[in-house]
Amino acid sequence: MNSMPELRGPLYYQSRFDPKVYLKTYCGLPGNPRLLFILKHLAEIFNSGKVKGDTLIDIGSGPAIYQLMSACETFENIICTDLTDKNREELKAWLTSQPGACDWSPVVQHVCHLEGDRITWREKEDRLRKAIKQVLKCDVMEKNPTDPVVLPQADCILSCLCLESACKDHEAYTAALNNMTTLLKPGGHLVMAGVLGGKFYMVGEVKFLGVSLSEAFIRESLSGAGYIIERFECSGESRERWEKTSQFSSYYVFVARKNS
Ligand SMILES: C[S@@+](CC[C@H](N)C(=O)[O-])C[C@H]1O[C@@H](n2cnc3c(N)ncnc32)[C@H](O)[C@@H]1O
Repeated sequence: MNSMPELRGPLYYQSRFDPKVYLKTYCGLPGNPRLLFILKHLAEIFNSGKVKGDTLIDIGSGPAIYQLMSACETFENIICTDLTDKNREELKAWLTSQPGACDWSPVVQHVCHLEGDRITWREKEDRLRKAIKQVLKCDVMEKNPTDPVVLPQADCILSCLCLESACKDHEAYTAALNNMTTLLKPGGHLVMAGVLGGKFYMVGEVKFLGVSLSEAFIRESLSGAGYIIERFECSGESRERWEKTSQFSSYYVFVARKNS
């Protein structure tokens, strides 16, 4: 019997998520309010001196590195992770400066500017390339997301737009949050960015369903997983927003500390 495809899940991402189309659609500047919002808050968070340590694990990096541009000012040991082979290959292409790799220079320049132009954008790219030590396969729905690799607990977990994509409902979100939390030291920080009220996003002609989250639900889940919320920023657009490529109501960035 033919059933409707679920438009999400590991096999679907592995076969249908095109990293180059994703980067072109969602990771360019100018004219990208969601990216500008996330970059601004990540720059403040990682330059505040409050979120610190040696090791940061980025969960569900996709083919993207924008989320790590401020983090590399603090963390010297960064581990990128993603579910799909193609995304990890795209990341490695940028790390090794291969021809055809994504040109992140407009975004790097913007982040340098947010941080007061202390270093040039080329120095920032070098710093980030040096900080990223590993690119690992991961599935947040697994008890150990980086299985078979067992990582020491990190000082910080970062994750942008991943749980909304990976989880089909609130129950799955809670499970994935708990799985991610096992990778974090007690007292360490979880920094997350994403969309509220998300329903789907398009990568080219391919539709990916998301789970719709509210600020109240995220706060409740964090508290249930043993976190204290230190900062919760929301873009504050409460009206449902329709865009050509995705549907959501607003975007958020938060910092939470795992109970020690
Ligand atoms: C919307 S993209 C976000 C990528 C990137 N973090 C960003 O901010 O642009 C969602 C990412 O989640 C990854 N993903 C989906 N399901 C996952 C899972 N079960 N475990 C880990 N990553 C997953 C996808 O491969 C994809 O790279």
